[in-house]
Amino acid sequence: MGKCLFITGTGTDIGKTYVTGLLVKCLHDAGYKAGYYKAALSGAERGAKGELLPGDALHVNETAQLGETIPHLVSYIYEEAVSPHLAALRSHQPIDFQKVRRDFEAARGRYDYLTMEGSGGIICPLRWDAEQHVVLDDLVKALGLGTLVVADAGLGTINAVVLTVEHLRAREIPVRGIVFNHSHPGDFMEEDNAKMVEEMSGVPVVAYVRDGDRSLRLDAAKLAALYD
Ligand SMILES: Nc1ncnc2c1ncn2[C@@H]1O[C@H](COP(=O)(O)OP(=O)(O)OP(=O)(O)O)[C@@H](O)[C@H]1O
Ligand SMILES: [Mg+2]
Repeated sequence: MGKCLFITGTGTDIGKTYVTGLLVKCLHDAGYKAGYYKAALSGAERGAKGELLPGDALHVNETAQLGETIPHLVSYIYEEAVSPHLAALRSHQPIDFQKVRRDFEAARGRYDYLTMEGSGGIICPLRWDAEQHVVLDDLVKALGLGTLVVADAGLGTINAVVLTVEHLRAREIPVRGIVFNHSHPGDFMEEDNAKMVEEMSGVPVVAYVRDGDRSLRLDAAKLAALYD
């Protein structure tokens, strides 16, 4: 059974998918058997035959050259670009968490290093109906995963990162590291942001990703050590 790392972020559109593509590519290129899995994706576009295209999964599949099939990458794909709980309600396709666990375990069986991407930030409702109330942190906890937090390198990130880490700690979910995205080396505020989030949260910034980066500035063995 493979090792796993859950990628969360300080919010939606922060760059989880972009960073995940580089993480999986880093491991894959170094010879690790690396895979990707996402439980629920919303905001999918339609392909030529009307099929729903899971953009995040396809991006990582392409970037890391995984050659994986869509059903192996994502369990639930919703068209509306809203929180999964709302997309699921409106399309009458609630998430079955037994299926998610089966799909996750199957993915973990296929790969030695499985990177699972979250939806939105860590407080993202996945199912909120008459039968169940499930938030993303419930799923991460149920699967027993450690996390990596993707954050913007710039203004406002101290608040967003420290709140996210404190919430994960309150739920007793391990936090292995932080990745600063949209990074500008030499920027005095961004350098202070990194120092402040490390000191205030006690979690290291393990990588800095610049706009347009095609590879990760992190040793594959050091990255692999974050998986458990
Ligand atoms: N370092 C970067 N360089 C270039 N483009 C980036 C970078 N980081 C993010 N982007 C772009 O910003 C947009 C949002 O990023 P991304 O899709 O990775 O966010 P996300 O956190 O995965 O969002 P979601 O919550 O929808 O899963 C995308 O168009 C992505 O290509
Ligand atoms: Mg994404």
